[in-house]
Amino acid sequence: MGKDIISVSVKAGKVDAVKVQCDLLAVGVFSDGKTGGKLCGRLDKKLGGAIGKVRELGDFKAKANDTTVLYGDGKIGAKRVLLVGLGDRKKVTADTLRQAAAMAAKEAVGVKAKRAVLMLHQEVKGRKLDGAKVGQAIAEGAYFGSYRYDEYVSDGENGRRKAISVIIGDSDAAMVKALGSGVKTGNIVGGAQSFARTIANRPANVISPPALAAVAKKLARETAGLSCTVFDDKQLKAKKMGGILAVGGGSANKPRLIVLKYAPAGKGSGKVKTIGLVGKAVTFDSGGISIKPAQGMQDMKFDKSGGMAVLGAMKAIAQLKPGVRVYGIIPTAENVPSGTSYRPGDIITTYSGKTVEIQNTDAEGRMILCDAIHYAVTLKCDAIVDVATLTGACVVALGEGMVGLMSNNDGQVKELKAAAEASGEKVWHMPSGEEFLEQMKSKIADLKNIGGKWGGACSAAAFLSEFAGDVNWAHLDIAGAGMFDGSKKKYGTAGSIGFGVRLLTSYVCNAKK
Ligand code: BES
Ligand code: MN
Ligand code: ZN
Repeated sequence: MGKDIISVSVKAGKVDAVKVQCDLLAVGVFSDGKTGGKLCGRLDKKLGGAIGKVRELGDFKAKANDTTVLYGDGKIGAKRVLLVGLGDRKKVTADTLRQAAAMAAKEAVGVKAKRAVLMLHQEVKGRKLDGAKVGQAIAEGAYFGSYRYDEYVSDGENGRRKAISVIIGDSDAAMVKALGSGVKTGNIVGGAQSFARTIANRPANVISPPALAAVAKKLARETAGLSCTVFDDKQLKAKKMGGILAVGGGSANKPRLIVLKYAPAGKGSGKVKTIGLVGKAVTFDSGGISIKPAQGMQDMKFDKSGGMAVLGAMKAIAQLKPGVRVYGIIPTAENVPSGTSYRPGDIITTYSGKTVEIQNTDAEGRMILCDAIHYAVTLKCDAIVDVATLTGACVVALGEGMVGLMSNNDGQVKELKAAAEASGEKVWHMPSGEEFLEQMKSKIADLKNIGGKWGGACSAAAFLSEFAGDVNWAHLDIAGAGMFDGSKKKYGTAGSIGFGVRLLTSYVCNAKK
């Protein structure tokens, strides 16, 4: 592979906006007000009224994620001032700042800045957001926006530097300290998210199931507190993991089950809550014998995104060291047609012993997840969360901005909703259960792998719930946001957005003991 992704470092620092030397100074502006607050007012004076002018002319309306560049021209320390719109003052959340930081970082990389200073939060501070949360959100945004997937682009550095240094600036020492504590977490989460994005963006000829297993092994070697076991196809056969074997059976790239483990220090096997994160990693989903139409099929390299969310979250969790034990369980297979593929009509005996009649080989996600969820049960997990680009039906229901959340436990729903709020990765609670399970019953096996025409996201969830048994379980259908093309957002870039890394990390770090 070619060059590494951009290396980002974020720090909080005490700075004077007028004096600070940097390639780009980003300032947050609400849509009300002329110059945009005290900080802008000071800069405006030094810049001879330039900020007031763009506001007055209406060139910059300060809607969320609007930007305008002004030049320092020796009048201030910064070479460029980037005005970033924050929109309506009354609607500001941590995610407003995360997005603004992403916007600023994207522009900074665009102008090849070595050093960018972000002063986006000045008008918000001391109001409804605390310093640590602001620091974390802005740091995460800085990683998000500076990211580009260009490891196969040979044209020089594709116009970017190898590294960028970002300072989250404030004039108040106490605020710098508070920001700094959040920045520590933000660096970890942001780095893990970028890692997940890169692996997700790699195509299926590069990331096959064995190659993905090698990536996970390498991650565990390089990360203190993280271990990794991989079951290859022979071991899957010995364990009778019929679902994973069926889906992976058509490809020369054999399936794997990746199991990552994090245990809090000194509690290797003691009594401590155990969480299982299960992520679907279909490295390419052609549909198999029930083959998909050609149009858009290239996007099915992103069908491993649930697994990447788990991989990234495990990287962050090992560094953040929460007081719970966590397994990251990633079943991985390539779903392609061949003489050795599983077929419609086949009856598969899954790891749990339950049999499944295959009616469509394109409903493969649930066939690898059912074995992985049952494996989480055998590991005595107290709570299981699975994450998967599972159904087109979920995208029909919720679009690309939110993911479906189904669960057999209200406490889990609450915790995941709180994690969504903190991470800015939105979930919407949807039903599953008895009504939907009816659709999944087969006349010639225990279950079948597709339901009726309607409610496909909910019947898929009902199928999965059968394998969690009595264990608290939640399911995130990330088919929409998980495969969302990042370039559709102003502050984004083509390819994976690494959806789920922030959500799962926040969920685990705040889990009720
Ligand atoms: N990976 C797909 C789901 C998907 C589809 C994600 C479109 C993102 C965009 C999944 O394996 C799949 O093919 N699901 C089928 C299920 C059906 C056969 C019951 C679907 O949604 O069409
Ligand atoms: Mn499929
Ligand atoms: Zn799939």
